[in-house]
Amino acid sequence: MMSIKSLTVGMALLTACAIPSVEAAAPVVYVRAGRLFDGTGETAKNNQGIVVEGERIKAVGPAAEITIPEGAKVIDLSSTTVLPGLIDCHTHLGSRADNFDEVNKFKRTPFTSGFAAVVNARKTLDAGFTTVRDLGSRPFMAVDLREAINEGFIPGPRIVASGPAISMTGGHGDLNKYSPSVHMMMYPEERDFQIADGVDQVRHVVRAQIKYGVDVIKINASGGVMSRGDPPGSPQFSVDELIVAVKEAHALGRKVAAHAHGALGIKNAVSAGVDSIEHGSLIDDEGIRAMIDHGTWLVSDIYNDDYLLGRAKEIHLPQESIDKEREVGQVQRENFAKCVKAGVKIAFGTDAGVYPHGDNAKQFALMVRYGLTPAQAIRSATSRAAELLDRSNQVGSVVPGRYADLIAVTGDPLQDVTVLENVAFVMKGGRIHRSDLTATSHSESAGPEPKRRTDSR
Ligand code: ARG
Repeated sequence: MMSIKSLTVGMALLTACAIPSVEAAAPVVYVRAGRLFDGTGETAKNNQGIVVEGERIKAVGPAAEITIPEGAKVIDLSSTTVLPGLIDCHTHLGSRADNFDEVNKFKRTPFTSGFAAVVNARKTLDAGFTTVRDLGSRPFMAVDLREAINEGFIPGPRIVASGPAISMTGGHGDLNKYSPSVHMMMYPEERDFQIADGVDQVRHVVRAQIKYGVDVIKINASGGVMSRGDPPGSPQFSVDELIVAVKEAHALGRKVAAHAHGALGIKNAVSAGVDSIEHGSLIDDEGIRAMIDHGTWLVSDIYNDDYLLGRAKEIHLPQESIDKEREVGQVQRENFAKCVKAGVKIAFGTDAGVYPHGDNAKQFALMVRYGLTPAQAIRSATSRAAELLDRSNQVGSVVPGRYADLIAVTGDPLQDVTVLENVAFVMKGGRIHRSDLTATSHSESAGPEPKRRTDSR
């Protein structure tokens, strides 16, 4: 038992510690960029200086005009192109892409996805993605992950978190085509937050997810590829159900992302007022028009097909998913090109977790092959993505006031977007997360996060 005396001494000590000391000044860092693409506009500027104070960007401009603040640590990135940290608007950090055997559905506990998420969050940040919108995980893994990363407990990108994707009974998020007794084996809490039929249940699930801290609502408005018994082309949920989801989410300040491959599902979701269409694979001309009229974003995961069909055997992709992928994969790319041509707003999102996390940047090459200029493709993963996420004043551009989320690549991504597949330097919130670049005075300077391996990509 603690004596009164030691308790008093302890309390005195605590009080002493609580006396605010003079606040340590935020570390100041000066980054010299050989070339800077700031996430907006068409071109990069040569020889730029970036002043970072604490976790924010303080000043940006021609190196000749931006003086190095006294005492600043200098990071020499003069042989590289510097860009804002990249943003992927569609990930599943809790998912692994190495084995899609159906038996896993019955073997994996929520812990499994938690372990995967810790590894995948780091791989994602290693690859230069400093912000992701995580669109579908067990309740409420992405919310917890967001918090753990924000607390600095584990390394990872900033996370805009959804809960589990909301699905109708028998829909893309349900466990289908097993005996009814198997159906009951879904975790009860998952059913509560995920499966909804009718406007009242949809309203309830949206409210319940928001109660537990999600930033965004994900709803499945058509069938899918990586699920059983739900053709990608078939619509899911009635327009009324989708409308109530959007109304509730928007009233509570959350955006809505709708998974939709099928033409009718896309149109239903767009007319209900969702903020983004995920996949958009089988969109028709009417759907394209509707997206333009409503200002709906397209987040189309056009890299996935290469991985899924290229590795089908080794990743144990069920035959049903192989068949569905063959149905949507190539046409999705062609329809992406149509949407680009028509002027649909494009944000970068890859569905990471269907393919391995960390390979996110592989999608840039496809986006350029199917109609975007390199600058447009990069903006889709920087300033444009930030717009969709409603975080333009936080991330997505190298502008004073934003988080100092910076990456560097050797080479010129405006000539060759594939250089983004090899990010050499990652800073998040003013701290260096990793660097392959040698001989700089930065390694201890910018308050690096706790020591970690840098070779984990
Ligand atoms: N999560 C998506 C689904 O199951 C993956 C689609 C992957 N294929 C593609 N071509 N985008 O429907």
